[in-house]
Parts: sequence; structure tokens; C-alpha cells
Amino acid sequence: MGSHISTAEVSSADTPAPSSGESTRQTHGIDLAVVLPTFNERKNVGEILSRLENVLRGLTWEVIFVDDDSPDGTADLVRYHAQRDPRVRLVHRVGRRGLASACIEGIMASSSDFVAIMDADLQHDETILPRMLDLLQIESLDVVVGTRNAAGGSMGQFSSRRVFLSRLGEKISQAVCHCKISDPMSGFFLLNRAFFMENVHELQGGGFKILVDVVSSSKRPVRVGEVGYSFRNRVHGDSKLDFNAAIEYLFLIINKVTGGLVPTRFAVFSLVGATGLIIHLACLSLLMLVFHRTFLVSQIAATIVAMTGNFFLNNLITYRDRKLRGVRLFTGVLSFWLACSFGAWANVTFARAILLSGAPWFLAGLAGVVISSVWNYSMTSLFTWQMPQRRRKHTAVTTFEAVPTPTKGSQ
Ligand code: GDD
Ligand code: MN
Repeated sequence: MGSHISTAEVSSADTPAPSSGESTRQTHGIDLAVVLPTFNERKNVGEILSRLENVLRGLTWEVIFVDDDSPDGTADLVRYHAQRDPRVRLVHRVGRRGLASACIEGIMASSSDFVAIMDADLQHDETILPRMLDLLQIESLDVVVGTRNAAGGSMGQFSSRRVFLSRLGEKISQAVCHCKISDPMSGFFLLNRAFFMENVHELQGGGFKILVDVVSSSKRPVRVGEVGYSFRNRVHGDSKLDFNAAIEYLFLIINKVTGGLVPTRFAVFSLVGATGLIIHLACLSLLMLVFHRTFLVSQIAATIVAMTGNFFLNNLITYRDRKLRGVRLFTGVLSFWLACSFGAWANVTFARAILLSGAPWFLAGLAGVVISSVWNYSMTSLFTWQMPQRRRKHTAVTTFEAVPTPTKGSQ
């Protein structure tokens, strides 16, 4: 089934040039790599391996488990199998979590031209893998999706709430993917490596939705095939698709919609800020109209409530990966208040200066909001959530740049 080029034996001394476009050429004889992301799937490891062994008989294959240091010891069990079967490999990540990034690292760790991504929990029907591979090779496709919505596919016994969420996600995904995939939320698909490599630098890598990430990153129309299957019920372990996964999805969509121009975290921070405005106005009217407080008292109280609300929302959503807890919540909220108070002062001061320079009031107002948002975002990311700063790439060069040296050409 795999298309080996048996005559093209390359000695180890020759380094073959990277192939461009020769997507079906195999260089080391692996027809298919299967990447299985795992988190607490120990009870499913043995079964998925024996099922793959059965269904991939006749093919040369490898399976790469990418485990995020599962507390149930999934990685130890995979290592046990890997020591006995060279087709089984393990990427054991420590201090990291995330389905999409696990898949990306699994794909990057294999060198096969065709890579399948599949859940390790037996919910995906592995028996369609050979058909997916055939379709991809025969029709020279970029990706073949195992889909629950195509002919022969079904949602299995999903709850109606989950089906609704899935359908909603589909609609949004189809809009950012610019192509027709009947099940864009699928976590089961087969990729042509050449296509994946075209897009790997654009991937956002967060959350659950790796397929949407890859397809929406493509600059050209994507050649998609589909094979239907029925989603099975889980027998062992639990689903990890939770509130965080939904938030990650929001991040991905914002990133794709803005074309990566606005940092996604900043976009979410601004959205949270906008909700702060609503909280503020609600609180202000409550205090003035119901409790008959003075404007000054009501305004100060509303500001504190809105800022505190914003802090907790940001802690929950925007910085969910760096969530502050315990006593750090207290210092966090203090530094957030401090940064935002200064932001508010900067807002008014700059807006006033811009207004005085003759700009229309709405532009002055907008400029004030933009300046304070950028300020609040930068300061709170630095001090409240203590985001690591990106290192400058060429520290050494920077040192030399300080000394003006006459050089030929630019820089
Ligand atoms: N390495 C790693 N890290 N693996 C993870 C992580 C993680 O943070 N989170 C989940 N996984 C693994 C699980 O162990 C499982 O093998 C696979 O990813 C899918 O996770 P589930 O938690 O079982 O997902 P689900 O069944 O709720 O969701 C399925 O349906 C969605 C569509 O509705 C998955 O197939 C999704 O990919 C799919 O989008
Ligand atoms: Mn599952």
C-alpha cells in the first residue's frame, strides 16, 4: 500500500536533499505513523496497540504516544511496550499540557510522509485507517478526516447538549477554514506531511482543535477527503474536554480571525475589559438609583468592583495557564488595581491632550482607551501574572550594535 522507492537506496553518507512536492516518496519505509496523545489513558494503551497491530497488518507503521506525564503512569506502560516493540515510541512531556501541542510534537517526532492523529481512548474507529490512507494516496489529498457526519458516520451516544456544542463549533470552524469539512471538530484525521510542514510555522498549538488550526493556516485551497465512522463510547477513563478546552477554542478562533496580527491574549484581555464596562455601569446605576449614594462614592465603588471582576475573569480565562491561587490572588488583585489605576489616569491625561491638540472628541476618547488597554495589558502581564518575557534573539549582536562600526552593506 505504501509507495516505497526500492531502487532509490541512499547510503548513509549521502544526505538526501529535502524533497519538495514528492509527497508519496518514502525514505525509510514507514507507510504510516499514528500519533496518539494521551492523558490518563493507562487502561487503554494495551488495547489500542493490539487493535492497531491488527488493522495495520501488511503495512510498515509506527505509533507515537505523546503523554503529558499522566498521573496514572500511562508513560511507564507505553515505555514498557516500547522496550519490546520498536514500532512503539514515546514522547514523554513534563510540565506541559495540551492536546493540540501534543499532536504537533508527535507529528514532528515522526518522519513518515503520512501521519494519522487519533485519540488513544478507543472512541475513534481505527479500522478505517487503511481506507483513509488509500484515499489520501490515490487522490493526492492533503488531509483525510475521519468524520462522524459523512455517510456511514455518526455521533454515537453523545448527549444532545454535546451535539449542539459540536454543531456550533462546526459552523464557526467552517467559517475560518474557508473550506467544506463536514466534521471540522474531529480529532481523527490523516495528514500528508508535506501539507503539514507548509503550515507548521503558522500553528497556534493551543487547545483541542488541531485540525481547524492546520486547515485554517493554509494559504491555498486544501484538498480534503472524508471517511465516515461511528464515534464510540468511552469504556475507561474520562473526557478532558472541559471549560478550558472551550476557552482555548475561543483563543484559536480569535487568532485565526485576526490573522495573528493582534496577540490573542491581548484580544481576550480587551474582551474581558469590555465586560468590565458593563459591570461598572450596572454597579454605578445600582448604587445611585437603588441605594441613593453620591456619584463620587458610587463611581469609586463601581470602579473597584469592575476592576476586581476583571482581575478574576482574566485569571480564569486570559491567564488560565498561569492562574494565581491562594495568597498570590491577594497580591495579584493589588497589583492589578495599581496598574489599572495608573492606566485610567493615563487614559484621561492622553485623551485630554489629544483633544486639546484639535482632534475630535471620539478619536481622543478612543486613543485614551487604546493607550490604557495596552498599558494595563503590558503591566499586568508583566507584574500580576509575571509572564516570561521573550528573549531577544541576538543578544550578542545587540551588544555590538551599541558601538557604531562602519560596515559595508546594510547593518
Ligand atoms: N498529551 C495530551 N495532553 N493528551 C491529551 C490531553 C492533554 O492535555 N487532553 C486530552 N488528551 C488525549 C486523551 O487522552 C485522548 O486520547 C485524546 O486526547 C482525546 O481526549 P478526550 O478527553 O477523550 O476528548 P473527547 O473524547 O472529549 O473529545 C473528542 O471529540 C472531540 C469532538 O467533539 C476528541 O476526539 C477531540 O479531539 C474532538 O475534537
Ligand atoms: Mn475521548
